[in-house]
Amino acid sequence: MEPVILKHPLIDNKLSILRNKKTGTKEFRELISEISMFLCYEALKDAKTEEIEVETPICKTKAYKVNEDDYAFIPILRAGTGMLDGLINVLPNAKIGHIGLYRDEKTFKPQRYYYKVPKDIDKKQVVVLDPMLATGGSAIDAITMLKEEGAKDIKFLCIIAAPEGIKKLQEVHPDVKIYASALDEKLNENAYIVPGLGDAGDRIFGTK
Ligand code: PRP
Ligand code: URA
Repeated sequence: MEPVILKHPLIDNKLSILRNKKTGTKEFRELISEISMFLCYEALKDAKTEEIEVETPICKTKAYKVNEDDYAFIPILRAGTGMLDGLINVLPNAKIGHIGLYRDEKTFKPQRYYYKVPKDIDKKQVVVLDPMLATGGSAIDAITMLKEEGAKDIKFLCIIAAPEGIKKLQEVHPDVKIYASALDEKLNENAYIVPGLGDAGDRIFGTK
């Protein structure tokens, strides 16, 4: 399955500010949230709707409603929570789970420290959120845990993807469609995305 990379001059404009090391925490967080909202619109293009009748001030008409209960948003802690606001703006009643992972600084392997997801995850459209798809290790492990819980219908949304991460994630979870607002060049020797935006968690939470 080909990844979807958002190609839009207004997204590129937002990315130009996001990538800039001089951009402060408040603006960084707002941009992550805004871009995530656009990723959500793209990823949920195929959302099922139910026909209902509503009465406008003029007349009765057919309208189309999404069953928000069918959706589960799963941010990977910490940085994934920065994307959550954008998605909740679109579907405020979706269920939310959290998977806590951090990358070991030497091995770059993800370490799990928290896991709590909504019940009936096997019946939901699951949307996993993490701004950075670098080696792919965190996304792969999070999705493996969700599949072990029964999840079948999974999409992965990120702000920036590295080719290495896309390749690995597609190899291990070929059924999971990837949505990114940018596809960057490569990883550096510290497994950071080049040119990237630095450490997403630190920039969202102002921890460095
Ligand atoms: C970052 C990022 C991803 C992971 C990506 O998280 O938010 O979860 O690294 O790298 P990978 O594709 O090589 O696994 P980090 O481990 O720095 O934790 P944080 O979100 O708490 O800052
Ligand atoms: N995690 C980040 O926050 N940034 C990267 O470039 C790679 C992993």
